[in-house]
Amino acid sequence: AAPLRELVKPQQQYFGAALETRHLQDKQFSETLAREFNQLTPENEMKWGYLQPERGQFTFDKADQLVEFAQNNNMTVRGHALVWHIQNPDWLENGDFSKQEMLKIMEEHITTVVSHYKGKVKYWDVVNEALDDNGGFRPTLWYQALGEDYIAKAFEFAHKADPDAILVYNDYSTEGKSPKANAAYRLVKKLKEQGVPIHGIGTQAHLVVGVQPRVADIAANIERIKELGLEFHFTEVDMRIQGEATDRALQQQANMYQELARLSAYYDNVNFLTTWGITDKYSWIPSWFKGYDHGLMFDKQYQPKPAYLAVNEVF
Ligand code: XIL
Repeated sequence: AAPLRELVKPQQQYFGAALETRHLQDKQFSETLAREFNQLTPENEMKWGYLQPERGQFTFDKADQLVEFAQNNNMTVRGHALVWHIQNPDWLENGDFSKQEMLKIMEEHITTVVSHYKGKVKYWDVVNEALDDNGGFRPTLWYQALGEDYIAKAFEFAHKADPDAILVYNDYSTEGKSPKANAAYRLVKKLKEQGVPIHGIGTQAHLVVGVQPRVADIAANIERIKELGLEFHFTEVDMRIQGEATDRALQQQANMYQELARLSAYYDNVNFLTTWGITDKYSWIPSWFKGYDHGLMFDKQYQPKPAYLAVNEVF
């Protein structure tokens, strides 16, 4: 099978992977990354707690190393994430700031970070996970301080700092048919109608083998997003297996990976297929979902799994 990144024109389609800076030390990891993928997403290093651990003190070194790797290997960078409700620094988490101050803090962070990466980070997850599972607004520190308007403000600050960046709203459990998927649709529609600089929606797609959303429902979501003139990205794909990775489970997993690949090959507004890691050797799954593992396209020895071959077949 040819490396994934050779199968598509970069302008049409990104095959991406998330990683932490430390993974670059693992030669097999960095080789696989550079060989197969044309896009990378920092798994943690561009989150607020990493970039601004103390108020006004920005630490870009780790994230910069990822950007440098991308540049050296002709890869596009997706910045993740400017505004989120977790992995924030203590000073922000525990601070007692007025509404005005919170807005100022957000503006300073977004302006500094997006300006630092202007011309180097083409896509940004501007706001991550603003919705709860029922489709209401999650009562994050931002929501509590600023109300719903924090979302529009975040996009405006990012756009001002880099007018060429492509700005995205990102969330999970928004792939198929659900109150949350509908809420995400309504949210981006409203932002777009208000003239907020938003260019796409990211759906994380942390899926579970055996209980995936129906493909037709994902397609329906993509189509209504397309009608809004927005891009649709699969931003954090993995498909976790409960218990053992039996042949049957791996085959089911491969089928679902293939469906996502087909959707991205078919729809011209679907230009990202990014997996949340490369190899099952390093994945957030076992520590976050007890009893689950094996969500990625390469196994712990970097052998391509049926999922890899199934994606490869599509292009
Ligand atoms: C996860 C990382 O993979 C972990 O290493 C970290 O401990 C927690 O965050 N949705 C997101 C990602 O948008 O940022 C999360 O990443 C996974 C869920």
